Formats: sequence, structure tokens, C-alpha cells
Amino acid sequence: MTGHIIVEQSAEHPGVQIIRFNRPEKKNAITRAMYVRMTEALKAADADEAIRATAFLGTEGAFSAGNDIADFLAAAMGGSLGHELLDFLYALVNSRKPLVSGVDGLAIGIGTTMHMHCDLTIASLRSQFRTPFVDLALVPEAASSLLAPRIMGHQRAFAMLAAGEDFSAADARDAGLIWKVCAPGEVEHLTLATAAKLAAKPASALRIARDLVRGPREEIIARIDEEARHFTAQLKSDEARKAFEAFMRR
Ligand code: COA
Repeated sequence: MTGHIIVEQSAEHPGVQIIRFNRPEKKNAITRAMYVRMTEALKAADADEAIRATAFLGTEGAFSAGNDIADFLAAAMGGSLGHELLDFLYALVNSRKPLVSGVDGLAIGIGTTMHMHCDLTIASLRSQFRTPFVDLALVPEAASSLLAPRIMGHQRAFAMLAAGEDFSAADARDAGLIWKVCAPGEVEHLTLATAAKLAAKPASALRIARDLVRGPREEIIARIDEEARHFTAQLKSDEARKAFEAFMRR
């Protein structure tokens, strides 16, 4: 299963760790095993002085379609969602190295909200950002209910997180969710070049600057936990189960 996440250190970009979604046949939907692999990679980056920046990438046309809905359905049917998603979110928040992401195409659910924890995101013109939480009878996660209003103001945060509206790459850039928009063929190169530029900077100064810009981690963790309590309860609702079943039946 770990083949669905490829972790490597870029040969051409010294100091850059790449975490790549590699489940294109499922639009890079994220399973519990994939969260585990990403958490391990982020923790390994923190412990390794040679890694000075991490770049998240997807595959052509899909960054990620979000959490695997089969896992949501299993939880809705009485199972547990497990701790893997939460562990990944904590690892994102606690990461000490700059996080860069490159999006080409679909970015849904956590495929959108995880960029709120990244420092620089580059997306291709054909990218689409969407969080259909409420349509699935779920609630926002990843502290997006705290971070999105800060990033983009109430109206756009509400349009994204509650109304489930699609954001184009240009919308996302105008809202401040991402940094730059480029042609599809340029995403990888620009993302890795951006990460390499950060990796070449004085590490301790960059870490302090990043911490100051990001602000306290405690309130972000507290919001992740608060959202998770609602999320877990909503997962067990009839409406959520029906929405997951409808998706799996298509
Ligand atoms: N979980 C599990 N499987 C998923 C998935 C997800 N989140 N997203 C896509 N897939 C699977 C599809 O079931 C399909 O599998 P199959 O070929 O075995 O039938 C495959 O990926 C391709 O997806 P498909 O729907 O055929 O592609 P599309 O281009 O028509 O649509 C999406 C792509 C992403 C728009 C659509 O799949 C979708 O809406 N996915 C759900 C996204 C979502 O709600 N995520 C959770 C957010 S909280």
C-alpha cells in the first residue's frame, strides 16, 4: 500500500523531500495507510537535518480526491475511522520544515484543506478546489474552519467550506489559498524549484520566520480536535451513510 505514497529525496533539488500521491486510478483518494506513510515522512523530515523543505505533489490531473470514501463508509457502518487522519494533521501542524505543494487538477476535501497548512502552493490553471463536507453531511476538518476565514474572509470561507462551491485556480489565488498559478506542465518544476530555494536559505532563520508568520500551534490543534468531535459524530449519521453509499454505488 505504501506505493500509493512515494517519498523520495530529490536528486536535482538538494534538501528537498518529495511526498507524492500515487494512486491515480482512484484520483489519489487517501487511505489510512497513505496517511500513515505521510506522517512517517513528515516526522522523518523533522528529524533529518539534511531535509530542509518538503514538497507535496500529486499526479497528472489529480492532486487528491480527498479521504477515501470507502473508509468513511466503513466508519459510518459502525467501524472506526482510526487515528491515522488525525495523526497526519498533527504532523502537518507540528512540522518544523517549510511545506510547499503543487496541484494539477482535482483537489477535494483534505486535498484542498491541507494547503492551508502549506507555506507556498502552486497550482495549474486547470486545478479545482472543493470541499463538499456539508453535502456529505460532514463538517470542515484540518482546522479549516479556523484557517480559511483568516486566509480568505468569512464569505469566501463559507462559500468553500459550508456551501461547497468550486474554486478555480484563479479563485483560489485571489482568495489567498494558493500562491501562484501556472500551466499544467510547469507545476512540478515550479514547486520543486520553490522548495529548493527555501532549502538553500539559512535554516534556523527560516524556521523562526515561519513560526512567527504561522502563529501558535496550540489553537490550531485545539480546532482540529473540536472539528474531529463533530466530524466523528456526523460520520455516524444516516445522511452521511446514505451519501457515502450513493457515491460507492455510482
Ligand atoms: N474515495 C474513494 N474512491 C474515489 C474517491 C474517493 N474520495 N474519489 C474518486 N474515487 C474513485 C472512484 O470511485 C473511481 O473508482 P472506480 O474507477 O473503481 O469506479 C475512480 O476513483 C475515478 O473516479 P471517477 O469518479 O470515475 O472520476 P471523475 O473524473 O468522474 O470524478 C471526482 C472525479 C473526484 C470528482 C469524483 O470521483 C468525486 O466526486 N469523488 C469524491 C470526492 C469526495 O467527495 N471526497 C471526499 C471529500 S470530504
